[in-house]
Amino acid sequence: MIVVLTGAPGAGKGTQGELISERLGYRKVSTGDVLRKHIKQGTEVGKTAEGFISQGLLVPDDVLLKLIQVELSEDLNENILLDGYPRNPAQAQALSSLKELHEVAAVLHLEVDKQELVERLSGRLLCKNCGRSYHKKFDPPAASGCESCGGTEFVHRDDDDLDKISVRLDVYNQETAPMLSFYKDQGLYQRIDGSGDNEEVFTKIEAALQKTG
Ligand code: AP5
Ligand code: MG
Repeated sequence: MIVVLTGAPGAGKGTQGELISERLGYRKVSTGDVLRKHIKQGTEVGKTAEGFISQGLLVPDDVLLKLIQVELSEDLNENILLDGYPRNPAQAQALSSLKELHEVAAVLHLEVDKQELVERLSGRLLCKNCGRSYHKKFDPPAASGCESCGGTEFVHRDDDDLDKISVRLDVYNQETAPMLSFYKDQGLYQRIDGSGDNEEVFTKIEAALQKTG
């Protein structure tokens, strides 16, 4: 089964996705991470995606569909946490057409106010080696290095400049937010207050997942 974790840029999808994966055993699939890996490796997908991501725009749906089909074809019995897919009504339709592979069991929408989103994104740091996300104020990396890989270099994400953040938030409001009614109509939607620290938000997510069964 699939749980979709959705929300604006900076809402905490990646951070909570890690916790859900580590503690509840879901396989996390982040389309943003998959695309960034393609860019790093210089693949054709990466070359196509780079221009869109650097402008804060969505990568075309057909590229994403191919990626998601590969990710979902692995093990049909596992629990999958989708971070960042679907991201518009057409992608939500495409995902439901793949339901012979995995059915969507819940859509958790992390909601955080705009000022906090900007603060989170503008202070984000990534481990240069493995990509794990930190925050210079809210979640600074330890002096000993990255919790996941021990890396000691931390970088700013290219699309976290203030002008790009503003485009990404607009794209979210125009393209992703309208998708939520699709899941409300199916009774799959649950709103999660994404404010509070990581543990507080995780507790709310865990409670929502328990309702899903
Ligand atoms: P993607 O990588 O998914 O970026 P995004 O949606 O903009 O979301 P972010 O990763 O910025 O935020 P997040 O919600 O994961 O927050 P995080 O946990 O890191 O996508 C990037 C690009 O790829 C898109 O713009 C698009 O071009 C393309 N793309 C991806 N999927 C696509 C699709 N399906 N279709 C088309 N194009 C696609 O947290 C952010 C910061 O806040 C961190 O520093 C963290 O430490 C901190 N933080 C998190 N939680 C808290 C908390 N509770 N309290 C305080 N700080 C917190
Ligand atoms: Mg993310």
